[in-house]
Amino acid sequence: MAVKMISRSQITKTENIALGVVQDKPATDFPGSITQELKEIRKLGDFKGKAGELIVLYPKGQKTKRIFVCGLGKAKAIQMDVVRKAVFLIMKKAVKLKLKELVFDADSFIHKHTESRAVIQTIVLMGGLAAYTYTENKSGKHQKTQAKATKLILAGSARSDLKGICEQGAVIAEAVNYARILADRPANQLYPQSLANEAKRLSRLSAKLSVKVMQKPELIRKGFGALLAVGVGSQRSPVLIELNYRGSTAGKAPIALVGKGITFDSGGISLKPSNKMDEMRYDMSGAATVLGIFKAATQLRLPVNLIGVIPAAENMPSGSAARPGDIVKSLSGKKIEILNTDAEGRLILADGITYVKKHKPTSIIDFATLTGAVIVALGHAASGLISNNQKLADEIIQAGNVSGEKVWQLPLWDEYRDLVKSENADVANIGNKPGAGTIVGGAFLEKFVENTPWVHLDIAGTAWGEAGLIFNKGATGVGVRLILEWLKKIK
Ligand code: BES
Ligand code: MN
Ligand code: ZN
Repeated sequence: MAVKMISRSQITKTENIALGVVQDKPATDFPGSITQELKEIRKLGDFKGKAGELIVLYPKGQKTKRIFVCGLGKAKAIQMDVVRKAVFLIMKKAVKLKLKELVFDADSFIHKHTESRAVIQTIVLMGGLAAYTYTENKSGKHQKTQAKATKLILAGSARSDLKGICEQGAVIAEAVNYARILADRPANQLYPQSLANEAKRLSRLSAKLSVKVMQKPELIRKGFGALLAVGVGSQRSPVLIELNYRGSTAGKAPIALVGKGITFDSGGISLKPSNKMDEMRYDMSGAATVLGIFKAATQLRLPVNLIGVIPAAENMPSGSAARPGDIVKSLSGKKIEILNTDAEGRLILADGITYVKKHKPTSIIDFATLTGAVIVALGHAASGLISNNQKLADEIIQAGNVSGEKVWQLPLWDEYRDLVKSENADVANIGNKPGAGTIVGGAFLEKFVENTPWVHLDIAGTAWGEAGLIFNKGATGVGVRLILEWLKKIK
């Protein structure tokens, strides 16, 4: 996706314009008659410029048909989150009106605390995210809305580095939307093998990206006992997907990304209640995030080496399913007591993490819709972070603040490590006392991570959502923007 750019003086010659307007300053420096239009609307008192306030003006007798005006709040308080939301709201509206093109006046979104390069990239990025709707299974004209989405044009003062910044924004948006489409896809259409096929398709992007898939017989031979136990109740066999991206020198140790790929989580024999069970098609959101990151890293040619591992399985109840109380031998050799078959994410991740450690990564980041408890703790505003390495944790937290994909750290103290002790095996997959569900998940994973610097991201509250949050209803692709922001800083 190439982003079209025009100079700011051209703006009055375009049909649809988008502006950011602050609350506490008169609008004086807009091209053409826009300043006058804004003055009048303010005088009426219908528009104050509060953050998130959106109106559309319809000027008469000129080339411009619509002016989208979004409030940004008080000038001194404008942070990137305000710009993100404004761009998202405007673009959403433009898409709804089926506009062909929309010109963003970049300068009007640049203020004291919003750096120009970041703003420009954010406009392209959030504009791209706002244009997404999941239409794969809509027939006829609805299906084509995606392709016809409003084209974003950027008006700004000419800068030589603008083009690159815009293109990066477009690549990131595409990668997030790619993660979203995989997560939104229903579980009868996206299952372990079809997820693997998606990954293989992705490897065509570049010779620097390769994908290997391990099938069930190999998983059995190599001893992936935990992954196999989760998939054993399903007609769809589990697979292990491995991605390699070589953007740096051959000998350099990679960064490992591990994603939970439960294509449907019924709970297994510890069956979930039927209310909202359909949402468990999103239980492979961590896997989708990993694929999205690999897509963008490849297209941006990031100078890093990455290894990605996606253990994928469907968690189903059946006569062949694992039972509560079963004890299985994981790839690490550690024996796991499965006291609840619904705590399956940590089982497949245990084997995924053990496997990725064979590649001696410098650090491991895992993404998983692991616990409902993280929603109790943080709601839908932040992902939960658990780590064994404060330096790495701080870097990811910082990337969260910059990217807008917030993360919040939960502690991993010895008191919590005691909770995964098992009476009958080396480790149990649920806590032996009530409470701290998200941390118990982290403490379990740490047993397999051991000493490698590691961050666990529990994205159960952020991977999909209701309309009204910054995204539409459905998948968010959370983690893609976060980790790309972090990778950008890695040498
Ligand atoms: N995939 C779920 C977690 C989940 C629940 C994500 C609700 C999003 C919304 C996970 O596999 C699960 O079932 N976790 C259990 C763990 C428990 C049995 C220890 C949970 O959170 O209830
Ligand atoms: Mn579960
Ligand atoms: Zn699950």
